[in-house]
Amino acid sequence: QADGTVITIKSDDNAPVINKHIYGHFAEHLGRCIYDGFFVGDNSEIPNTNGVRNDIVEALKKLQIPNLRWPGGCFADTYHWKDGIGPLDQRPTIVNTWWGGVTEDNSFGTHDFLNMCELLGTEPYLSANVGSGTVQEMADWIQYTNFGGTSPMSALRVKNGRTEPWKVKYWGIGNEAWGCGGNMTAEYYANEYRKYATFLTGDIVRIASGASGDDYNWTETLMKNIPNSMLGGLALHHYSVIDWSNKGDAVDFTEDQYFGTMTEALKMEELVTKHSAIMDKYDPTKKIDLVVDEWGGWYDVEKGSNPGFLYQQNTMRDAVLAGATLNIFNNHADRVRMANLAQCVNVLQAVILTKEAKMILTPTYHVMEMYKVHQDAKLIPIKFVSPLYVYNNKSLPALNVSASKDSKGLVHVSMVNVDSKKENKIEIDLNELGVKNLTAKVLTSKTLQDHNSFENPTKIQPADYKGFEINKGKLTVTIPPFSVVVVEGK
Ligand code: AHR
Repeated sequence: QADGTVITIKSDDNAPVINKHIYGHFAEHLGRCIYDGFFVGDNSEIPNTNGVRNDIVEALKKLQIPNLRWPGGCFADTYHWKDGIGPLDQRPTIVNTWWGGVTEDNSFGTHDFLNMCELLGTEPYLSANVGSGTVQEMADWIQYTNFGGTSPMSALRVKNGRTEPWKVKYWGIGNEAWGCGGNMTAEYYANEYRKYATFLTGDIVRIASGASGDDYNWTETLMKNIPNSMLGGLALHHYSVIDWSNKGDAVDFTEDQYFGTMTEALKMEELVTKHSAIMDKYDPTKKIDLVVDEWGGWYDVEKGSNPGFLYQQNTMRDAVLAGATLNIFNNHADRVRMANLAQCVNVLQAVILTKEAKMILTPTYHVMEMYKVHQDAKLIPIKFVSPLYVYNNKSLPALNVSASKDSKGLVHVSMVNVDSKKENKIEIDLNELGVKNLTAKVLTSKTLQDHNSFENPTKIQPADYKGFEINKGKLTVTIPPFSVVVVEGK
């Protein structure tokens, strides 16, 4: 008789590798993400390297962030990259029409971003302007960043202080083309994509602006109308929002709102399954990546903050959301090969929040840190039937799990208990795992609303976990309510 939910786990040589790029991040010119977030300028008293905060760099390096998407988001389709290069005093300003209507001085531009990526040891993912840009502007940008030979754009780059090209691999062709990127129809955008992609060439991955949530027609139309050879990735955006007109407070929320957020978050399973199935029809050998380049929780902005800046706190609800979503991505590693949490610093489900010289790591940061062991590890497929988290005559699967084996032979199983009240137990046959020595970490807290604050920055942190036992070769792990556990086996 099993002591909990029985998980069947078996290594499979044919299983995919979990692409490290699933653990990607997103930095838009939005609110305090770039300015007064990553970038404080080199005159700041906050320790920095060429204007980029050292504490943020250190924290993100620890996370091993594989890629960083920039400059948007909606901002990307208003952005003209040539305004952000050359002498600072000659750069024109830009009004950030999508986010707060603030005027920016373009002091953080292409060099600043790409050099920052080098500092972070991460791959840049540039989102290029289709909505209000031109093909020429995009073609010039790639020549500026990637071309090592003699050309007008590489000469300009050298003049601006950078000899070697950065060789940017990931290129998004527009963002949310169905909305802020130009309100295009899927058919119209497919044609635009083909045109832009024709002039964006080299050893790069071209990523098309993808569907919002369950807009399967968007995916179908793009897959049908764009030749596979022109498409490296197809995007998908999904935010866990209960009600766009009343998103609720980020900290002061009810169980009803928690249940609503998690219902939206777990919908990701259905979304990636169905979008993947459409892609399979046109790309049966799965060459094209599904790139979930915006995901996360989105609540009302913190009281008193600029409504256009999307600043929100981050609680255990967000930790559960992140753990569950990353488990879904891992389990769909055959098609989901890149994803970007929205957003990295001070915006939406941030991993880092700053206030003047202070910086805190959110519960979501800690989940990303606990899960980094899955990056580029081989997926171990798992099977189980989850118990239910029942609330108010509605239910959700209480547990979600993913597992992988890394190149050193270490096995990691990440488990999330979504249930807000009940602990759950998971039983795994250790013989199938082929491991003996086990350690575990847990991220949990007293209440779902708990969070790290500038006054108490370490309230929520991963801790060593002893809530497991081994009996006759079976491992039983107890997962407290609304918590995330990662077991490591050698
Ligand atoms: O992440 C915030 C915004 O959400 C992005 O700018 C846009 O792409 C999406 O609608």
